[in-house]
Amino acid sequence: MVRGVDYFARQSGLKTNHRTKIMSNKIRIGVIGVGRGQSFASAATDVVGMELVAICDHWEEKLKAVGEKFNVATYTDYDKFLEHDMDAVILANYFHQHGPFAVKALKAGKHVMSETASNTTLAEGVALCRTVEETGLTYMLAENYPFTAFNQEMRRVYQSGEIGEVTYAEGEYNHPMTPRSSLSISPGTNHWRNWIPSTYYCTHALAPLVYITGERVVRVNGLSIANDEVTRQYVRKGDPGSVILCRTGNGAVFRIFGLCLPGHSNWYRVHGSHGAMELARGSGYFGSGQVRVWHEEWDQKPGQLREQVYSPDWPEHGDLARKAGHGGGDFWTNFHFANAIRSGEPPFLDVYRGVEMSSVGIIAWKSALKEGTPIEVPDFRDEESRKAYENDHWSPWPEHAGPGQPPAGSSKSKPTKEALELARQVWTEGGYKGEDMV
Ligand SMILES: NC(=O)c1ccc[n+]([C@@H]2O[C@H](COP(=O)([O-])OP(=O)(O)OC[C@H]3O[C@@H](n4cnc5c(N)ncnc54)[C@H](O)[C@@H]3O)[C@@H](O)[C@H]2O)c1
Repeated sequence: MVRGVDYFARQSGLKTNHRTKIMSNKIRIGVIGVGRGQSFASAATDVVGMELVAICDHWEEKLKAVGEKFNVATYTDYDKFLEHDMDAVILANYFHQHGPFAVKALKAGKHVMSETASNTTLAEGVALCRTVEETGLTYMLAENYPFTAFNQEMRRVYQSGEIGEVTYAEGEYNHPMTPRSSLSISPGTNHWRNWIPSTYYCTHALAPLVYITGERVVRVNGLSIANDEVTRQYVRKGDPGSVILCRTGNGAVFRIFGLCLPGHSNWYRVHGSHGAMELARGSGYFGSGQVRVWHEEWDQKPGQLREQVYSPDWPEHGDLARKAGHGGGDFWTNFHFANAIRSGEPPFLDVYRGVEMSSVGIIAWKSALKEGTPIEVPDFRDEESRKAYENDHWSPWPEHAGPGQPPAGSSKSKPTKEALELARQVWTEGGYKGEDMV
């Protein structure tokens, strides 16, 4: 059954204010990036009150095919794309270029939902927060992992007070790939996936913990994990793993683990002052998919069970979420973005949380290069706190190379001869002709 805007407005108690009427029920969406961007394009439909109207990519061949698939306008030039008559832009371009692209779209009067990361320098983070404030437009980080059924259930349990206040939590997003699969989605030695420092892709592990507990990170210690035997099979500069310890505003500790070490793991646990809960371990992509909540016998409240393990249902819209990718997350990001635009209320994953969590990855890499020295995370809501970072362009990315810039990885090892040959083969097969061929 197709449900429209009014259905969602009723379900979520949204205000049908002046702004909603101006939107005339359909939020017209443009998407940049025809890789991951296709998930957003597919989900920009009637069911969330969106209509896809344009896509942009400088990969002409693919753009043409995707444009025909969705029957929408196509652009190779981002500035021209922004001139298209539309309300909002979804950014699925390169991971390390979202910040400046978001600022440009906001200045062109478009609401923005951005793939992770929001920013890859602290200066970009400051500029993005200021631009959202100046324009008054909606900005959302498109983190989809908070919205799996089990993470939404853990948020519900946390908010009910059942386990008390968070003391310690763990989030893991460790997604290894074969060298061939990894190469097939990262053409050229300078592609962001071949360059990304081990701490930067931290939001899949961190955002669910922030969503469940509502806490913010105030300080981090990062440690990077290099292993020559793993690293040399790839053409990546970044290390394959890292651990980030985060001190939160309430004094709790979050441990974040990633990124692509052998041994896939996507997992979350939260300890509170009166119990604990986790995604029960299992062999599926999302473990067992079940939530486990437990208490100490001496701390059980009347009516509380000592331990429960169960498969949670969706809080609402399960019929739609079940059909979407990433455990339903790909439905919820578009859903929340559309609702935030219509209501004029910032989404939970607003610019401050987006920038703060992305900055945890940057600051953790600064810390890792000093073997775990603790470093403060600015409060991006506060102009006084963030002002000190407005010129912090510290960046390991190749286009920012220059004096004082850091390396992207800690290992000095070089790819094996076989790894280089495989890269040449996979990229040639894919038609890649860039100057950064191995
Ligand atoms: N949340 C998730 O589950 C999830 C999954 C996959 C990817 N992602 C994120 O989505 C983003 C995109 O990932 P991807 O795998 O599609 O990456 P990708 O590098 O394969 O694709 C990026 C696309 O953007 C296009 N592009 C880049 N700069 C452009 C410009 N200036 N003008 C026009 N087009 C431009 C490229 O040609 C490419 O097609 C990344 O931030 C990634 O982290 C998130």
